[in-house]
Amino acid sequence: MKALPIKDLRPGMVVTEPIYTNSGQRILDADSVLTGESIYRLSFYNISSVKVKKADENGSGEQYTAMIPNPSRVSNPSYSQKVKAQPEFMKYQIEYIKLINSIREVFDTIIRHPEAPIDTSHFLKDFSSLISICRNTVDLLDKLHNMRLDDDSVYTHCLNVALISRVIGKWLRFTSEERDVLTLCGLFHDIGKTSIPDEILNKPDKYTDEEFTLIKQHPLFGYKILKKLPIDKRIKKAALHHHERYDGTGYPQGLQGADIDDYAGIIAIADVYDATTSARSYRSPLCPFQAIAMFENDGLQKYSPQYILTFLDRIASTYQNNRVLLNNGQSATVVMINPNHLAKPMIQMDDGSVIDMQTNSDLEIVKII
Ligand SMILES: [Fe+2]
Repeated sequence: MKALPIKDLRPGMVVTEPIYTNSGQRILDADSVLTGESIYRLSFYNISSVKVKKADENGSGEQYTAMIPNPSRVSNPSYSQKVKAQPEFMKYQIEYIKLINSIREVFDTIIRHPEAPIDTSHFLKDFSSLISICRNTVDLLDKLHNMRLDDDSVYTHCLNVALISRVIGKWLRFTSEERDVLTLCGLFHDIGKTSIPDEILNKPDKYTDEEFTLIKQHPLFGYKILKKLPIDKRIKKAALHHHERYDGTGYPQGLQGADIDDYAGIIAIADVYDATTSARSYRSPLCPFQAIAMFENDGLQKYSPQYILTFLDRIASTYQNNRVLLNNGQSATVVMINPNHLAKPMIQMDDGSVIDMQTNSDLEIVKII
């Protein structure tokens, strides 16, 4: 039996005793086999080390070795299994957790000292390290989608929105300075939610009218928290405007079009995309094509016309040539994106036939496989 630090844990190792959080919540039983998700959870709860069985105790031939699933040994590995089996996925998970913990610390510091200067350069450095693990933008999105776990804290959401916004900034050919500001806009956009009691924020049932009125104040709370900080004003505006909608249907002020800060318009898109592709208590995470359909059904006029089409087009194109699962249980390959209806591409079925999904309104893509 040996206690290993979190960074040395690998999927496949077996823990020797139950593991509890500081508040006494049991998060792993004795003899549990570690997975990427459980290692993520241990990091999230700041568990520093874990006792794992020695190789001869768990029957493995190698001492404390990583048993990352090899997709070539799994018959028909899913898209998600292939992403999670990448050797660098674990490194990505560790860096991702570090960033979530840094965000939590900096939010706490800002709330305690609302006028003290904050060092945003270390965040941007940590972002660069996280992004450097990804081979390209598609790989970054794949890793992001596969980090969808049971934690939907404000900090995780802010990190995801910062990452998605940075990707959008790249697609829009923003300069490196602009991408940095956009990243920080994403990072701080929901800081106002820390002013809302957890029992309301995490309520699994429908909000009452009073609760929803309070929740809709979080952009204002966020702006107030950030107002006196010596940071770029676009970051403060993103916190205030990210729920405003281009057609005036948003909140808290019901602003329209050009009155909404430009960067906040990008954060709004990243915010909705992350919320849609994350698990919720009442539904599983939606796949990227379902997220696109949701934007299309919800009304593209709600979002900045400058950005929404580029974003949806790039997301759809990311999955061209991918295998997908349809809502009728059949699988197919995306062969051509339809520019008029991005959620309904041309697909090739396994029998070789090609279907234009536009002509079949009942057919939906429900999973990337
Ligand atoms: Fe928000």
